[in-house]
Order: sequence, then C-alpha cells, then structure tokens
Amino acid sequence: MQKSDAISTINRPLHLTHCAQPVTTTLTIIRPDDWHLHVRDGEALSSVIPHTAQRFARAIIMPNLAPPVTTTELASAYRQRIIRAIPPNMHFKPLMTLYLTDQTTPAEIKRAHNSGLIYACKLYPAGATTHSESGVTRIDAIYPALEAMQAHQLPLLVHGEVVDPDIDVFDREQVFIERILAPLHQRYPQLRIVFEHITTRAAVDFVLSCNDKLGATITPQHLLYNRNALFHGGLRPHFYCLPVLKRETHRQALLEAAISGNPKFFLGTDSAPHGKHQKESACGCAGIYSAHAGIEFYAEAFDAAGSLDKLETFASLNGARFYGLAVNTDTITLEKQDWTVPAEYPLGNSALVPLRAGDNVHWRCIT
Ligand code: NCD
Ligand code: ZN
Repeated sequence: MQKSDAISTINRPLHLTHCAQPVTTTLTIIRPDDWHLHVRDGEALSSVIPHTAQRFARAIIMPNLAPPVTTTELASAYRQRIIRAIPPNMHFKPLMTLYLTDQTTPAEIKRAHNSGLIYACKLYPAGATTHSESGVTRIDAIYPALEAMQAHQLPLLVHGEVVDPDIDVFDREQVFIERILAPLHQRYPQLRIVFEHITTRAAVDFVLSCNDKLGATITPQHLLYNRNALFHGGLRPHFYCLPVLKRETHRQALLEAAISGNPKFFLGTDSAPHGKHQKESACGCAGIYSAHAGIEFYAEAFDAAGSLDKLETFASLNGARFYGLAVNTDTITLEKQDWTVPAEYPLGNSALVPLRAGDNVHWRCIT
C-alpha cells in the first residue's frame, strides 16, 4: 500500500512536468517574398524551385544566366521554364528581371514594361560577380535605359561593387557608393533603386540618407555571419559569396537595419546554387545556397536579436510595398525547433552544399 502511494507521489510530479513541458514557440506571419533569388536553368530548376516555393509566394528572379536574360523575349521563355518546375501543389510567382548591358535600348525597356512580366532591371558592373561578363562597363552607357526605366517606373537592381582591382575586396561596396551609386541617385532621384545584398555600415547609412525611392535587400548570411566564417579552422568555400562577408561591426549594422522596421530594408536571400565541385575548387565560384531554409535563417537572426516581432515587416511587407505590389493574403507558420540540414541536396545531375550543411537550423517552417 505504502509502496504504491509512494509511486503515485513520484508519478504526480512527473505528470506535472509533462503538463508544464516547455510550450513550443511558434510564429505565424504573412507569407514572405524573396526579392533576390538565383534559380539557374535546365535540370537545376526542379531541384531548387520547390525550396523557395514552399516558403515564399513570389521571388525576383536574377537574370545572370549564360547567356544572360537581356530581352523580354528571353525573360518570358525563362519564366515558362521556371513555371514548369513548380510542383503542382504549390503556388509561386516568378517576377522576372532583365540583365542590363551597354547595348540595352529604351525600346527594350518599354517592351519589358509593356509585357507586365518584368519587374526590374539588373545592373551588374562587368566582372563584378558570377556571369557578369556581359554587364555594364561604363555607367553612362546605360543612361538612355535608366531614363526609360525612370519614366516607366521600372526599378533598377544594383550589384553595388566596383571592379577596380586596385580597390581592396572588402572596400568595394563603399567605393561603389561614392563613385557610382550616390551620383546615380542624384542624377535620377525618381528612379526606384534597390541596393542589393548590402554588407556594410556605409551602405546602411547611405540607404538611410536617400529618399524613399532607394531601398536595400539584406541576405541571411550577412545577418548571421561575419568574415571569420570564411576561415574557421580552414578555408570554407561554402561561405564565399559576393559581396564577401564583412567584419562583425558591419553585421551588427545590417541587423539593426533589418530589425528597425524601416520600410527601406527588405528580404532578399541571394540564394545562389553552384555545383559542389564548382565551389570546392582552386578557383571557387561565389554564391551561397540558402533557399532550403530561406525564411528560417532570418527567423534565427531576428530571434537572436530579440526582434521576432519585426520579422513580418521585413520579410512580408516592406518589399511588396517598395515594388508597389499587394501584400500576400495567406500565412506561414514557423516553429522554434532544431532540424539538421542534409550534407547535400541534388542540383540537376550534380549536388550542392547548402548553408549549414550537416548542422542544425533552429527554426522550422511547418506550413
Ligand atoms: C551570385 C551567383 O552565383 O549568381 N553569387 C553571389 O555570390 N551572390 C551572383 C551575385 O548575386 O553576385
Ligand atoms: Zn545575387
């Protein structure tokens, strides 16, 4: 008798422990959009598109294919190939962009605008990053195109780094602001400009100093990591992207901007898949793949900063408003629970190594 009483008193606290088990933290937000995404082409599309489509309603699709997407006709055909790669149970809208070259004409910009399929044009300084060889060699070469874009209210997306080999690779963004972007914004103050994947305090300060036509995207890797990640215990090619990770003070500045709620700052993963062997090479490609946890990584960064309440503004509201598009009507739910990222995902006939491969992500997207 006594024994059984003893057991029941032992059981009681156990039962209570069960009831008082830590409640899982969940967060429901309006479905986000990705305002900067690389999905490549061909076989790779069906490997990467489902990751994005599970989480995001729309994404701005980068045009840096080889050869690049320089015309509305090419963008329209590319859009069809992307749509074919969307799993039948998912709703996802690719927002296409044109790749600007020295030869882009105002007539092409007008065609892009009239098509209703093109949401922006991308400026890659020639040689700045992956597949930028056909990019712009002199900023004045695109003045006629920029004038047409301003007139048609087609945003300009900017890879903001100078290519001058005399400039230290860690200073290329700041020098780009001084030499190119500040004068460009002054010359075309009504042109909507997205300063893509900003990485420095200088960029944050510059964006804040501009009018409301100029906004910026911020990637998950630049919110979560500083440049130490590139050299942690050895050379880490899967942390190499452009613009390259910067020192901790810059990460802090980006985090402050992201959690500030300021409508100028919004989500753009810059998820950029490359085959494993292209990355693990004597001359490895720039690009980090993050689409498999494209919203979860931001949840981690905002959570660590104690600002989960600002995630929806950054991920689901600011970008749509900047582009003049409706905010999505459905929601996603995130749960604070560890899961392990696989060592690799397929990429067509090859494989890619995702961000956090073999390691834990602390948030999970459950719907
Ligand atoms: C991108 C890619 O691989 O296409 N790479 C990267 O490091 N971000 C190009 C780009 O956005 O610079
Ligand atoms: Zn990019």
